[in-house]
Amino acid sequence: PVHRDLVGRRVVITAGPTREALDPVRYLSNHSSGKMGYALAAACAERGASVTLVSGPVTLSTPPGVERIEVISAAEMLTAVESRMPCDLFIGCAAVADYRAAAISEHKLKKTEDASGLTLELVRNPDIVATIAARPDRPFTVGFAAETQALETHAGSKLERKRLDLVVANDVSREGVGFGGDDNAATLLWRERERTRRHTLPRQPKTALANAIVDHIADRMR
Ligand code: PMT
Repeated sequence: PVHRDLVGRRVVITAGPTREALDPVRYLSNHSSGKMGYALAAACAERGASVTLVSGPVTLSTPPGVERIEVISAAEMLTAVESRMPCDLFIGCAAVADYRAAAISEHKLKKTEDASGLTLELVRNPDIVATIAARPDRPFTVGFAAETQALETHAGSKLERKRLDLVVANDVSREGVGFGGDDNAATLLWRERERTRRHTLPRQPKTALANAIVDHIADRMR
């Protein structure tokens, strides 16, 4: 049974990868398919929320009733997210590139004549979830943490450092979960009465996991 527990709530969700251009034909990116973020958008819409999905380049179709804004780079993703503030709930599920090229080459980068390598100069991208969590009118802010080691330690430090209300930590080094596939597993971390609390959600399809995550968020928002 669908709980219509998000009626009247405005929700903004990021999904998919970002692409950071190096030159007119090349970019830096990652393996995010968008499946986890799109499943969260579908789950929130089914529960009655008005949902905006800010999506990097993916091949998925938009869930019914969801507004989708397509972006390429992290900078565009931040601008699109800010255009939909204030809202009640923000979920950062996108795999945002931490760095972009210091300068995008106007022409295709050329190989040098000798056999030497190439050094790219990168600069930090803005942190979208941390920027949203720092607003005076901040929504309930949920971040993901994609970790390959010390899952809870690293995810716990993201919870504090980015001032999030909840972190969804996934171990992206485990076979069959995380980037790309249909399944995922997660540990939810949040602060309650000066303590870090955790709740583990076992491996399941991303559509089912999204519902379990949104159940938890709706409880915490109450
Ligand atoms: O898209 P799928 O193929 O379904 O895969 C799902 C997923 C593995 C991509 C997803 O479950 C996930 O873990 N998303 C977050 C990936 C990530 O970039 O994690 P991170 O630990 O590097 O970032 C932590 C948090 O900060 C995330 O909420 C991220 O959206 C956010 N962030 C990161 C960098 C940045 N510049 N801005 C951000 O907002």
